Amino acid sequence: MDGRDLVRSVKAVGSGGTAQGWRTVRAAWRRRRADAAALPQRGAERARVPGPLQGVEPEPGGGVVRFTRSELRITVTAGGAVFWGWDGAGPEPSYALAGSSPEPDPRAILEPDKEGGWRVVSERVTVAVSLHGAVEVRTPGGVVLRRDLPPRWWEPVGGGAARWMQRSEVAADARFFGLGGRATGPRLRDGTYRLWNTDPGRPFGPEDDPLYITMPVQMVVADAATHLVFHDTTWDGTVTLREGEEGAGSGHDRAGTCELRMDGGPLRCWVMVGTPARVLHAWASLTGAPALPPAWALGHHHARWGFGSEQEVRRIVAGYEERGLPLDAVHLDIDHYDAHQVFTVDTQHFPKLPLLAEELRRDGVHLVSIVDPAVKAEPGNAVYDSGLDADAFVRDASGQLVRGVVWPGESVHPDFTHARVREWWGGLYEERLALGFAGFWHDMNEPTSFTAFGESTLPRSARHSLEGRGGDHREAHNVYALGMARAAYEGLRELVPQERPFLFSRSGWAGMQRYGGTWSGDVATGWPGLRASLSLVLGLGLCGVPYSGPDVGGFDGSPSPELYLRWFQLGAYLPLFRTHASLRAGRREPWEFGPEVLEHARVALVERRRLAPYFMTLAHLARRTGAPYVRPLWWGAPMDRALRDCEDAFLLGDCLLVAPVLDHGADRRAVQLPRGRWYDTATEEAYEGPAQVLVDAPLSRVPVLARAGSVIPVRGADGGLELEAWAPARGRTGGGLVVADAGDGWDEPEIERYVTRWEGRRVVVLRDGEDGRTEPSCPVRMRGLGV
Ligand code: GLC
Repeated sequence: MDGRDLVRSVKAVGSGGTAQGWRTVRAAWRRRRADAAALPQRGAERARVPGPLQGVEPEPGGGVVRFTRSELRITVTAGGAVFWGWDGAGPEPSYALAGSSPEPDPRAILEPDKEGGWRVVSERVTVAVSLHGAVEVRTPGGVVLRRDLPPRWWEPVGGGAARWMQRSEVAADARFFGLGGRATGPRLRDGTYRLWNTDPGRPFGPEDDPLYITMPVQMVVADAATHLVFHDTTWDGTVTLREGEEGAGSGHDRAGTCELRMDGGPLRCWVMVGTPARVLHAWASLTGAPALPPAWALGHHHARWGFGSEQEVRRIVAGYEERGLPLDAVHLDIDHYDAHQVFTVDTQHFPKLPLLAEELRRDGVHLVSIVDPAVKAEPGNAVYDSGLDADAFVRDASGQLVRGVVWPGESVHPDFTHARVREWWGGLYEERLALGFAGFWHDMNEPTSFTAFGESTLPRSARHSLEGRGGDHREAHNVYALGMARAAYEGLRELVPQERPFLFSRSGWAGMQRYGGTWSGDVATGWPGLRASLSLVLGLGLCGVPYSGPDVGGFDGSPSPELYLRWFQLGAYLPLFRTHASLRAGRREPWEFGPEVLEHARVALVERRRLAPYFMTLAHLARRTGAPYVRPLWWGAPMDRALRDCEDAFLLGDCLLVAPVLDHGADRRAVQLPRGRWYDTATEEAYEGPAQVLVDAPLSRVPVLARAGSVIPVRGADGGLELEAWAPARGRTGGGLVVADAGDGWDEPEIERYVTRWEGRRVVVLRDGEDGRTEPSCPVRMRGLGV
């Protein structure tokens, strides 16, 4: 941005002439001025590398390796995750960790390695440090999974935060995943990915990067093992990835590379090694178990920006009811606020919200409220006044409130990096609960503040508490939404202790799953947007955030009936199943696209409801193990190269493989099958994997395959639990897990285990319990016996 940009923007807005437009120009001016005055100029810098190794000092779980110009602390922790930090960095303080850092594993010891280096050997991983500070992560068998070259720092001569760079090599066959929610994924191809939560300001497609959730979390999948590496630094940065290439037997492999450049913050990281399931379990142990959504949140949600009135909400709900379409939640967007101000109601159009909420609840429909962090900067606005009393808002270095522009106009932002502010904010949800809202949808929390040009967020120089340490927006930006989620979650736990909070958030960071899920933001309506929505769910799942889903139908414009239906059919198998669209977009109700689409959408909705016990089971398993509901096909077979590159289908738990239709006009599609027998659930035709097969995908359904031998909990016609069991291949066995719905409170239901096996000419399903194997207490429906 330079002076010319500014003049151009002023002219552009001037010709439009809206008051909001002028406000955004002023906001941009202010931001620029504030940053110029308060941020240190970079000026001359001094480069530094660790230098030669000088000595070591053993500690529990590892030790400290000293170099002439830095030191490296390595600690293997009890859960198997390894921490290392340069320049004295320890694991805390950290926004990602769920609690304090896990205990060191006393069995891990620091010992001499070859060529004068040192290594820490533990059960699952060996970390070796070379004489000049290269760090290798090796499997217990000695295969190198990752090699970090000695890091490099650039320190401003005049003082201030050092920039740093870490270059790494991975196996030639390795594939990269993760980095938060990336529309270009799930496999992250060669390129540079920025680590800065960003509202793209318009509906996004696969080419848009970064988006609302970025995380320095990489999952690297290679033949030798899978590893997850997390650089625990909240600052702005970039990750440049380049996949390697195998020498096709010639031995000339080219390693994959990763270059991480950060504008500041500690150089420290966590590494976990093993199978994908083990790695994500370790990740969830470190950063927190995913929040368990209430059962209704695993059903169908209908949202829209611009319902406009209670009558319209009633009309939509009645539309679902009259047509026999299951509906579990309705979301109210900013148009139900008074003049777009959070924690208020437009009482002219929504005069009796508690009554509406009660009526809907009787029909099993829950109301969800949008919550934006920006507070209109206007005396007399109760939230603003109470926030001023609590000294809750972000200020600049001179102590002035930082003003931005968001939906309500000139606004201020709470500083969620302060415990007192989080407490104040959490208390504000009481107003929402009294109105009858059952769940919360956090938006605009990157945070977004409109400016006429450049980046739409707060000035980088804006001051934040950072839990009392003090710092600026460069460090606080990426964890702003995480703090907001924590504030709401903790507030709700106090206000309604007997119920599990339900919230999901547009932005977030590592650890956000502790408080809730996310949705994909404003995805552009179109076939590329449909594909991007699957990438985001898969990629976020691999970063430990299992509950998410897109705006079904896309955020803007009007999808064709076919596109809408295909999106709907995909959404029906994703954790958050929600239709939503912008103020100016076309309709999104299933009956707006003609009788054929309505019929097929009904099938998808009814199937989703039938699968409710399976989704509940997956939610419990995600909480207990960190495994996402939606998993890439390679989840159980990361060595299968064909599966590793397959991005257009997914496993839903252990039992189902969903192959959505992502292309216009398709009525059959190729599906890459993992090993074993798979049944097309519509035709019961059996296929043997590993193989690529062609399956029918008529407009009426997307292909869903069931793994032979699996036991899937479903809702029977009478609403009770039933088991759907798929015959194992002859001579084989199978099984499945069921976690019953224990209500929306905190009761811990037990995990039931079932096994399937052939007994003579029939297949039996038995519950595997403490007293041996018993008949299941609910009805069992056998399928796949005709093969
Ligand atoms: C943002 C959100 C979108 C919401 C709109 C109005 O664009 O991403 O979901 O409808 O704001 O609140």
